[in-house]
Amino acid sequence: MRIVVTGKEGQVDTSLQQLGEAQGLTIIRLGLPEIDLSNPGSLSAPIEAAKPDVIISSAAYTAVDKAETEPELAQKINGDGPGELARIAARLSVPILHLSTDYVFSGDKDGVYTEDDETGPVSVYGATKLSGEHQIAAYTPNHVIMRTAWVYSPYGNNFVKTMLRLGETRDELNVVADQYGCPTYAPEIARALLSSARRVVEDSDPSLRGTFHLTGAGETNWAGFAEAIFKGAEARGRKPVKVNPIPASQYPTPARRPANSRLSGEKLNVFYNLTLDPWRTSLDDCLDQLLSR
Ligand SMILES: NC(=O)c1ccc[n+]([C@@H]2O[C@H](COP(=O)([O-])OP(=O)(O)OC[C@H]3O[C@@H](n4cnc5c(N)ncnc54)[C@H](OP(=O)(O)O)[C@@H]3O)[C@@H](O)[C@H]2O)c1
Repeated sequence: MRIVVTGKEGQVDTSLQQLGEAQGLTIIRLGLPEIDLSNPGSLSAPIEAAKPDVIISSAAYTAVDKAETEPELAQKINGDGPGELARIAARLSVPILHLSTDYVFSGDKDGVYTEDDETGPVSVYGATKLSGEHQIAAYTPNHVIMRTAWVYSPYGNNFVKTMLRLGETRDELNVVADQYGCPTYAPEIARALLSSARRVVEDSDPSLRGTFHLTGAGETNWAGFAEAIFKGAEARGRKPVKVNPIPASQYPTPARRPANSRLSGEKLNVFYNLTLDPWRTSLDDCLDQLLSR
C-alpha cells in the first residue's frame, strides 16, 4: 500500500514513516519545500506523481500562540490547504485521513467530548482547524477526520521535551493545573492511523467514514503531566524537579485554551476496534527513548 503523508519532520509524520516502513508499507512524506499547504497550486502534481492508495493529512500550522497574530496564514495551512487535499483525494478516488484537534471545542463541557458535541473554538488555531474539518467533509465523503490532542513523542517540539529541557536548569516549575486533556503519543497515533488507513482502503462502509476521536487512554492536567514526566526522568537518573500547580489565569498566553478538552475514544473503539495505550505507559516509552540517548 502506498501512503502519501503531508509533513516531513513533524511528530506524527515521522512516527508514520518509522512504523509504516517497519510494516512494509510505502510511506511518501511530502512537505516543504515541494508542497506548501499555503499554496494550493503546489499540491496536486507531487501527490499525483506519488500514486497513493490513501492520503494522510498530518501537516499543519501548529504554533497555537503564534496563530493569533498570523490568522490568514494559519487559515490557509489548516483550512484551505486540507480542502485542496480533499479535492485531490476525490479526483484520485482515494480516501483521505485528516488529523484535527481537541481545540475545536470551547472546553465548557463538564464531561468528556464526543464526536456529536457542538464545536466552538476559542483560538485562531482551533478555528482554522475546524475550517479544515469542514472543507475536508465538503469536498469528499471518503474522509476520516481524527481529532487528537496533547501530542508528544521523541520527535519535534512538544511538552515532554520542553519540560525535560527546563528541568535541566530549574529545581521547580509552575505548571497550569486547571486545563484537562488526554496526552497522546505520536507513535500510537501512527499505529491507529495505519490500521484505519488499511480498513478504509479495503472497506467502503460509510460507518468507517466521518469524525472520530483518537487520544491516549486516561486524562490529566498539564501539572499532572509534568509531574509524571519529572518522576519518570528521576527514575532514569535525572535530578528531581518540583511542580507547583497554578491556575491558567496566572500563566497568560496569547491564545486561549479550553479548560476541558478530554475526548471520548468510544466511537473509534466501536467502529475500528482501536484503543490507544494509556498515556502513562506511552510516556515511559518516550522517556526511554529521549533519556537513553
Ligand atoms: N501537536 C499537538 O499537540 C497536536 C494536538 C492536536 C492535534 N494536532 C494535529 O496533529 C497533526 C500533527 O501534529 P504534529 O504535532 O505532528 O505537528 P508538528 O510536529 O508541528 O509538524 C507539523 C508538520 O507540518 C509541516 N508544515 C507546516 N506548515 C506547512 C506548510 N505550509 N506546508 C507543508 N507542510 C507544512 C511542518 O513542516 P516544517 O517543520 O518544515 O514547518 C511539519 O512537518 C496536525 O494536524 C495537528 O494540527 C496536534
